[in-house]
Amino acid sequence: MVDVKAIALKKPAATDLWVVIIGDGISKKWSPMARSVDTATNGLIKALLRDGDFTGKAGETLFIPKSVNTQALLLVGLGSPSSKNLEHNRVHRLAAQSACSALLKTRAQSVTLFWPSDEQDDRSAYTQGRLITDALCRALYQVPTRKTPAKPKTTTLKRLQVVAAHADQVKALQAGIDFSLGTAAGVKTAKDLANLPGNICTPSYLASEAQKLARQYRTIKTTVYDRRAIERFKMGAFLAVAQGSAQEPKLVVMEYNGSKRAKAPIALIGKGITFDTGGISLKDPAAMDEMKFDMAGAASVIGTMQALAALKADVNVVAVVPTCENMPDGRAVKPGDVVTAMSGLSIEILNTDAEGRLILCDALHFAKRFKPRAMIDVATLTGACVVALGSPVSGLFSNNDDLADELLEAGVRSGDLAWRMPIGEEYTEMLKSNFADLGNIGGREAGAVTAACFLWKFVDDVPWAHLDIAGSAWLGGAQKGATGRPVNLLVDYLTLKG
Ligand code: BES
Ligand code: MN
Ligand code: ZN
Repeated sequence: MVDVKAIALKKPAATDLWVVIIGDGISKKWSPMARSVDTATNGLIKALLRDGDFTGKAGETLFIPKSVNTQALLLVGLGSPSSKNLEHNRVHRLAAQSACSALLKTRAQSVTLFWPSDEQDDRSAYTQGRLITDALCRALYQVPTRKTPAKPKTTTLKRLQVVAAHADQVKALQAGIDFSLGTAAGVKTAKDLANLPGNICTPSYLASEAQKLARQYRTIKTTVYDRRAIERFKMGAFLAVAQGSAQEPKLVVMEYNGSKRAKAPIALIGKGITFDTGGISLKDPAAMDEMKFDMAGAASVIGTMQALAALKADVNVVAVVPTCENMPDGRAVKPGDVVTAMSGLSIEILNTDAEGRLILCDALHFAKRFKPRAMIDVATLTGACVVALGSPVSGLFSNNDDLADELLEAGVRSGDLAWRMPIGEEYTEMLKSNFADLGNIGGREAGAVTAACFLWKFVDDVPWAHLDIAGSAWLGGAQKGATGRPVNLLVDYLTLKG
C-alpha cells in the first residue's frame, strides 16, 4: 500500500537528503553518529547551532539545500523529552512528524534519517522504527476526494533509510519499521472507509469491502448476513434502527485465523452506522455531515483485521460489524417504541438518536457465540465522550481490570491513547424504564458512562472493553477527516495476545 520502501541501515549511505534529528542540548549529548554527520558537512550543524539559526526545539525544521561540498540536509528539532506528557514518546513522535512532513516537501527520492540518542538498546531501536514509519505513512496519506481536476501525486520520495545507532540493532529497527508498515495498511483502510461519504460508503459497501479483504488474504474469512438472517437471529434492537432506511442492513462477520493452535478468539465489535441523522429524534443540521463518520468503529475493526493479516499475526480474532443507516421515515422507529433485543431484554427506545448502543447490544450478544476470550467494541457512541475527553484520548470502559490495563498500555506503546472511565450500578440505574427492562438513554448526566453501562448489560461475564472513539476517530476544522484510530492500539494489543 505504501509505495515508499523503508529500510534499516547499519551505517550512513549517500542519498539525496540527510535528515538529522537533534535535541536542544547541543553538542555535549551528541551521538557519535550526529558527530560524524557534522564532520561530513564540515561542521555546518555546529555552526548553525552556535549562531542560533537552528535551536533544536521540538518540531523545528531547517532545510539546507545541497551545495558544492555538502549534501542536502534537513535538521529537525527534538526539544527535550519530558515526563509531563500522557505519553513519554510524545516528543519523538512530534519530531518524526515534522521530519516527515518537511522531507516530503523536498524533491528528494531517497532519504537517510538519523536519530540523536546514543544510548540505544534493541527496544528503543524497535520503537524508533515504529515511530518514524508511523509518521511517514501518516504524512503520505491522501484523503480520497472527487476534486476536479484530480489532485496530482505530490511526493517524489521512493526510499527512506533509517540508520541504526549500533550495527547490531539493525534487526530490531527493521522489525519496528515492518510492524508499522503492516499496521499502516489497516490504518489506511480505516481512514478511507470513514472518509467516504454516506452515499458511497453504505452498509452494502462496507460488507463488500470486508469480502474483498477475504479474497486478498487467505487467513480472513468473511460472512455477510442480510436482513432475513438478522430477523432470524431476532436482533430486534438492530432491526429497529435499520427499519427507517432504504438501505439494507448487514451483519458482517470476519474471522482471522492466524494462530496455529485452536485458541479461543478475541472478538472485536464495530459500530457501523453509515449515516446518523438521529432518526425521528432528528439531529441539528449544523454539523450533520460529520455523521458519515459514524461507522468509524466498523472501519477501524475492518482495518485491524487487514493489518493482522498483513502482519501474519499469531492470534485468532473475530470481527462482528452491524451496519445500517439511522434515518427518519414513515417506517422509522419512534420515541417510546419498545423492542426486544436478541438477548431477550426489552428496550424502550426513548431517543432514536441513541442508536449505536441498539445495534451494538445485539452484535455483542451475537459475538458470544464464538466463545471469545475477550470482547472489545469500538464505537463513535456519544457526544458526551467528546465533551469529556476531546480528541487526544479514546474513552475506555471495562468490566475487567487486566484487559483495561493491557489496552491502556497498548495505547501508550502505539501513541494511540485511551483513558479509563467508570462503569457501575450507580449509573446502570439511570437506564430504568417504566415500560421495558431498560431505556436506551440515561438522562443528561454522564452520557458516555450510561451508554457504556447499557452495553454492559449484554456482555454477561465475558471480559469486555468498550472504546468510545467519538472524539478520537476524526478531526474537525482545517484537518477535517478520519484519524484511523484506534487501529494502532488494537493491532499493538492483539499481536501480543497470540
Ligand atoms: N453518533 C452519535 C455520537 C456522536 C456525537 C459522535 C457527536 C460524534 C460526535 C450517537 O449516535 C448519538 O447521537 N448519541 C447521542 C446520544 C444521546 C441521544 C443520549 C448523543 O451523544 O447526543
Ligand atoms: Mn445518534
Ligand atoms: Zn450514532
